[in-house]
Amino acid sequence: MPDTEEFVVTPYEVRGRVDYDRLREMFGTQELTGELLARLRRLAGGELHPLLERGIYYSHRDLGALLDAYEGGRPFFVYSGRGPSGPLHTSHLAQFDLCRWFQERLGVSMYIQITDDEKYWSRAGLSREETVRWGYENLYDILALGFDPKKTRVFFDSRSIAALYPLAIRVARKIPYSSVKAVFGLEPSANIGWIFYTALQSVPAFWPSWAEGKPVPCLIPCGIDQDPHFRLSRDIAEGLGFPKPALLHSRMVPGLLGEAAMSTTGSSADNALFLDDPPAVVERKIRNAFTGGRATVEEQRRRGAVPEVCSVWALWRTRFAESDERLRQVTDDCRTGHMLCGECKGMLLERVHRFYREHEAAREQAKAWAEGAIVTGPPAGAGV
Ligand code: TRP
Repeated sequence: MPDTEEFVVTPYEVRGRVDYDRLREMFGTQELTGELLARLRRLAGGELHPLLERGIYYSHRDLGALLDAYEGGRPFFVYSGRGPSGPLHTSHLAQFDLCRWFQERLGVSMYIQITDDEKYWSRAGLSREETVRWGYENLYDILALGFDPKKTRVFFDSRSIAALYPLAIRVARKIPYSSVKAVFGLEPSANIGWIFYTALQSVPAFWPSWAEGKPVPCLIPCGIDQDPHFRLSRDIAEGLGFPKPALLHSRMVPGLLGEAAMSTTGSSADNALFLDDPPAVVERKIRNAFTGGRATVEEQRRRGAVPEVCSVWALWRTRFAESDERLRQVTDDCRTGHMLCGECKGMLLERVHRFYREHEAAREQAKAWAEGAIVTGPPAGAGV
């Protein structure tokens, strides 16, 4: 890393100490304001998802316009996806948690894209067997969050290509190579699959409009690292007769070893909590996690610790604090030195273990309907 002030965020790399406000300015996205959140809260029946309430989602594109249309009687759908390169970790759930919340609160349809092609093209060393196998494993984890089988469809790229390709053809013609190169910074040695791939990530955003033969607005909750793909989608949407997708961007959840993102690309497996980690491994990872604690117990009692830099606090904040009140209490007890890191980790572990147990059961149920949710052909009656 050249300098601690420097950071890099692209769909294929996150590194350095990310200044999220500056990133928003660099990407040219809009701030998720209190006013917009208040509107969403009202539409959702008086409550916000914790990820919205706690500022994990902090940026957007055109959310206001999407809500205007919704209030005017035009329903939207949500779309998000996953590039399967290994087991999911807890931070991957943020985008799907929010989608599920929209589905539950507003009754919207959900489209999930599993990009087994993307990861095969972009990650040297992964086999086709691995990307496909992880594709299914990841899909079960995602569906287990509680999506409604009647309103949830899946594009599993290698199996859904007949459904996606008619639109991919049109999308690809609108995207010049120079844009892909400028947006993703691909090396000259990048394989041509990777160069083409972004066309496929745009397609689900337009697919329901194509299927229904009328504009259907799309909302994409995602990590802000995915914004470059959708900048391209938005640039070409209207030229193809589709509405520009709206976006909701989250911060990246920091890694357990104190890295900018809970990712294991280029770093140790101990940086992330995988959903298939056995309880003893979960325990070890959390016990060893980087915290904002002080060098000695005496010093921590006296000065308190620093939640903002702590990877364990990030877990409380992004998923495991069951209420805002609990989060406030953990935060205060940490800052005042009232609670030490060992105790905090013990309390968190109880919640993490419980979540893993419940998730395991939900995952078995999800397997029963996953296959039927995969879209394998173009929509009936849609044009070419
Ligand atoms: N490119 C994403 C990844 O690497 C996968 C993805 C496909 C996605 N479609 C998406 C992510 C839509 C967010 C929203 O994981």
